[in-house]
Amino acid sequence: MAESAELILDGKSISLPVIEGTEHEKAFDIGKLRDQTGYVTLDSGYKNTGATKSAITFLDGEEGILRYRGYPIEQLAEQSSFIEVAYLLIYGKLPTQAELDNFSNQITKHTLVHEDVRKIFDGFPSAAHPMAILSSLICSLTAFYPESVSPDLSKEDTDLNVIRLMAKISTIAAWTYKNNMGHPLNYPRNDLDYCSNFLYMMFSFPTEKYDIDPRIVSALNKLLILHADHEQNCSTSTVRLVGSANASLYGSVSAGINALWGPLHGGANQEVLEMLQAIQKDGGDTSKFIAKAKDKNDSFRLMGFGHRVYKNFDPRAKIIKKAADDVLAALGIDDPLLKIAQELEQAALTDEYFIERKLYPNVDFYSGIIYRAIGIPTEMFTVMFALGRLPGWIAQWKEMRENKEPIGRPRQIYTGETERDYVSIDARS
Ligand code: SDX
Repeated sequence: MAESAELILDGKSISLPVIEGTEHEKAFDIGKLRDQTGYVTLDSGYKNTGATKSAITFLDGEEGILRYRGYPIEQLAEQSSFIEVAYLLIYGKLPTQAELDNFSNQITKHTLVHEDVRKIFDGFPSAAHPMAILSSLICSLTAFYPESVSPDLSKEDTDLNVIRLMAKISTIAAWTYKNNMGHPLNYPRNDLDYCSNFLYMMFSFPTEKYDIDPRIVSALNKLLILHADHEQNCSTSTVRLVGSANASLYGSVSAGINALWGPLHGGANQEVLEMLQAIQKDGGDTSKFIAKAKDKNDSFRLMGFGHRVYKNFDPRAKIIKKAADDVLAALGIDDPLLKIAQELEQAALTDEYFIERKLYPNVDFYSGIIYRAIGIPTEMFTVMFALGRLPGWIAQWKEMRENKEPIGRPRQIYTGETERDYVSIDARS
């Protein structure tokens, strides 16, 4: 492997050191480029730019590989639990039974939120989108735990913030749903595991016992595991950038929630379901919508298709697609939207437009089918994505801080007006 890359600029040659990761990804380090040449690089959307070195998640877009701390996602989805995967991502290793029990029990103990949180709900209009409420309430944790804002926290205090965040997001997410529905809030129960407790808080009624179905608990664990981290995606990069200013974990994650809400990112899972419903309402002719997706003059995109990194297949989509079949079969649900999704996938995978652009189903394409089968409303889909992605955001925020990375501050190329004098208002045309 070359030790360095040589850049020849304005007759001068500079050497850029080459670095190689443990999976043989290569980069040349331009850390001294501007000092040595006066030039910066320009890479809109960071399609070719590495923002950091990270030991958390490895993905290979060409081979459809995704591993958390070296463990293949397929094995974790089949054999692990969401809380165990959260520990793996955040602390870098699979926990012993004692470590897992302690982590899980700590989270259980902190699922209650301050009673004043309920008052904040009252301030939102009933039609408020759950993601708007979630990002606000997660940021409000800095008000209930003001010490969390300090950039000089001890390991113990940082760990406590991690536990509080992992615990309270599930209660806040469930209460967001109940509040929007006008239902009484369910308080968390300490006798239930994480996913069972979330389902209980979401679907239990004082008047009607909610039977926790282990098949749904298993499907939810799998979905949350599959969403738990994905290296430097838009929302994770947001969390790292905001955190690089020594902003608190809660404030950084609140920013990440807003980035995830974008329909090109995590908000796509809601868009997919609405797209499938629109196709169904329109009579179910998938070819019409494939044509719209290909039409440059039509802003319609096949939501849940395409990915910045995966140019082969999204390994998560493969697992979720099978899980969707399994959950619907187990629950005896025949969802016409699943059939429309399968037809869309087949049509796109054989269409030159999608093949040429390497557009395949991504994590958002089938996840909504399962959420719908579980009884989770469409507007809560991206909240579910945030619930899953939280341990990844926490792990990435911790890694950035532990590596003492500098505040993120990209450069630019200015293309505006050159210097000109101020003109008084009466002289303007
Ligand atoms: C997530 O980064 C991550 O890891 C994200 C994520 C995670 O776990 O954090 O995986 C989660 O965000 C998944 C993506 C969810 N978004 C969607 O499903 C929205 C629909 N997909 C896209 O809009 C798009 O594919 C992106 C945003 C996902 C990726 O966009 P890129 O990499 O910037 O690619 P592009 O927009 O430049 O598209 C390249 C070409 C274009 O056509 P041409 O200009 O070359 O003719 O492909 C076309 C696009 O028009 N294209 C699509 C399309 N996606 C891309 N055409 C129709 N339908 C689509 N879905």
